[in-house]
Amino acid sequence: MGRLAIVSAIDQELRGLLASLPNAQCVRRAGREFWVGTLCGHEVVLVRSLIGKVAAATTAAVLLEHFQVDAIVFTGVAGGLGAGVRIGDIVVADTLLQHDMDASPIFARFEVPLYGRSRFGTDALLSRRLEIACARVLSSIAAGTCSELSTVQLAGCGVAHGPRVHRGLIVSGDRFVSSAAEAQALQSDHADALAVEMEGAALAQVCHDFGVPCAVMRTVSDRADDTAHVDFNRFIEDVASRYTHAAVLAMLGA
Ligand code: ADE
Repeated sequence: MGRLAIVSAIDQELRGLLASLPNAQCVRRAGREFWVGTLCGHEVVLVRSLIGKVAAATTAAVLLEHFQVDAIVFTGVAGGLGAGVRIGDIVVADTLLQHDMDASPIFARFEVPLYGRSRFGTDALLSRRLEIACARVLSSIAAGTCSELSTVQLAGCGVAHGPRVHRGLIVSGDRFVSSAAEAQALQSDHADALAVEMEGAALAQVCHDFGVPCAVMRTVSDRADDTAHVDFNRFIEDVASRYTHAAVLAMLGA
């Protein structure tokens, strides 16, 4: 796999993994702390990107140019959009799109100008590895053998069902979506969208530019509706980092 970058937008999504890298070297660049170390025998760089598409693009560009990583995985939370996508479920992206890109009428709505496309794909192999790792984590939670996360902790976030892994489209934009009306508008623009967040499509575009594989894994913290801010805050404090920790360790073969 070579040198792998693992990126989350905020501390609450990354702190579990950071705690697993006690001897990592911290390198400061572009206002960020890049933690370089070894996890399960793999060379990794962990970094908090900060929130939004520009922050994600800056972080990805530094990882690719300065740290010369061979692949980037973005992990964190998202608002669920798809009908069966519930809080506690995991979405692994096949493709990503910027839902707030609009240079119409010069270019088609959502198309990234001069790229001739609105959707950017993730790496099939890396995404499949991540999907398998996430499925293993969910099975171990259900069996009570996951050391990072339990059904009791999930129940504290209102997750009473057995969470599932979904694969498909994630849409990104510089907006926290917190009304049912806005979530419905996104669904009518992108019928196949499973989840909404604020960074993934930017990462996918930068990785496309550099020809480097990427994958995006998002745990559903809220339904992007009128209670999204409450659900989001509870989820990121209690379980978001545990999901990231468990999934990345499972992917690296721990
Ligand atoms: N990340 C988690 N929940 C989100 C939401 N509702 N909108 C945008 N990004 C999110």
